[in-house]
Amino acid sequence: MTTLDTRALVAVIGAGAMGSGIAQVVAQAGHRVLLLDNRPGAAAQAIEALARQLAGLQEKGKLTAEQREQTLARLQAVDTLEQLAEAGLVIEAIVENLQVKQELFARLERLCAPGCVLASNTSSLSITSIAAGLSRPERFLGVHFFNPAPVMALVEIVSGLATDPAVASALYEAAKAWGKAPVHTRSTPGFIVNRVARPFYAESLRLLQEGAADCATLDALMRDAGGFRMGAFELMDLIGHDVNYAVTCSVFEAYYGDPRFQPSLLQKELVDAGRLGRKSGRGFYDCSPNAVRPAAAEAQSAQAVDRCIVEGDLGVAQTLLPRLEAAGIRVERRPGNGLIRVGEAVLALSDGRMASERAQADGLDNLLLFDLALDYAKATRIALSCCAGASVQARDQAVTLFQRMGLVPSLLADLPGLLVLRTVAMLANEAADAVLQGVASTADVDLAMRKGVNYPQGPLAWAGAVGLPAVLKALEHLQASYGEPRYRPSLLLRRRVAEGRGFYD
Ligand code: NAI
Repeated sequence: MTTLDTRALVAVIGAGAMGSGIAQVVAQAGHRVLLLDNRPGAAAQAIEALARQLAGLQEKGKLTAEQREQTLARLQAVDTLEQLAEAGLVIEAIVENLQVKQELFARLERLCAPGCVLASNTSSLSITSIAAGLSRPERFLGVHFFNPAPVMALVEIVSGLATDPAVASALYEAAKAWGKAPVHTRSTPGFIVNRVARPFYAESLRLLQEGAADCATLDALMRDAGGFRMGAFELMDLIGHDVNYAVTCSVFEAYYGDPRFQPSLLQKELVDAGRLGRKSGRGFYDCSPNAVRPAAAEAQSAQAVDRCIVEGDLGVAQTLLPRLEAAGIRVERRPGNGLIRVGEAVLALSDGRMASERAQADGLDNLLLFDLALDYAKATRIALSCCAGASVQARDQAVTLFQRMGLVPSLLADLPGLLVLRTVAMLANEAADAVLQGVASTADVDLAMRKGVNYPQGPLAWAGAVGLPAVLKALEHLQASYGEPRYRPSLLLRRRVAEGRGFYD
């Protein structure tokens, strides 16, 4: 099998949130689709709901009347498994239960033609395990859509131990033909996205737990400096803490308790309290309809600043220079190690150490660290942290400098790696380990994180933009500060730095 043409009949089992979305995608792409659910009437109801959605798309001009009619005509609700016998592809999206899925595929195997591809949309079960009881596991694989399936472009094509590579590549091509962005991945816990995304939540949770700042400030920094669409707390409130915590626990357990994936007690407490986020009206935030979101903290200063000294190259933060000049700040350039001096203050991009550690080690009084930004030319907010013993005047001068550049400064407690830097370093580290372990290619890991969770950059490309040596240093410093293997750098990152290469070279 090299491809799956639109003449192939597709069966979708499970007419819930995912199954009905998948049925829509596949029918819109030109396949006839049979939809089955074991709840009587559920498949027909799902098609009625799809009809309403397609009508909505037509009203918005995203679909012609003809396309809507043809798509609907291709969708058929069926009542029995036997009616799926002619399918060329079966996609299962039923309850997330290994035994129930195994039993379903065992029945399908007896029913469907030998050339029929059997696929599961599971997000957390092992494709290898589901296939274990099958007599022809080579035609079985994971086809993991993201919610909502018609909107999210990513599809993880998941190969189990026995999956025939030709079957995986046929489904990859089919997903492309459906207008999706497929990636190949091996069946490992969390596949790509649910594994590599763990630090996105974990680092914000940890900073909150350690008193860095409140949720609103950390979320605002992730958006306005990190370029993420949402901060971790608002995103977890949206996903639901029960779901997000369960995914973290399942990945943590599946990796035999690797501290990289350790769940957060803060999140467990919310789950225990029934504060599940939007679905229960309260999570980290009050999610009730008229609730007012707390404002992010903003440092204030009464100091005037009209000049600064930039020593050496600021590296990835070099694009702050045009902003300084545009703000009318007189910039004196001197050789040095990437510092900005303003009044009494010394400013540097975080290298993963706490400001106080670095001030002491490098003999810098009045040191303030600033965080990584996705794009310093466009960021509207920046995190700062201050070393112990810094003068109020120094702090205020640093704050004013960023304010003059149009960046809202938020002061965090002095913790290693600030927020965006440590999150991006940990995302890239996990992504690097996924590549090292052969879970997926560099390009596919980055594509998966951009298309599956809307990251503004793939973590590996982002690490390249920051500079791999700087990312490695940040991780080494985090590991030293915490004394925990959680922050151990991936061997692939170490190797690439030693070779002087990037992830894409
Ligand atoms: P859901 O609860 O909305 O829908 C499941 C549907 O399957 C229900 O309509 C149920 O009646 C039906 N069903 C259950 N057992 C069945 C059986 N033995 N035979 C036929 N129909 C059966 O669940 P949802 O969210 O659509 O998830 C389905 C699958 O997709 C799960 O494996 C889940 O892990 C996976 N998934 C879910 C995502 C999500 O965000 N909800 C994202 C990606 C994957």
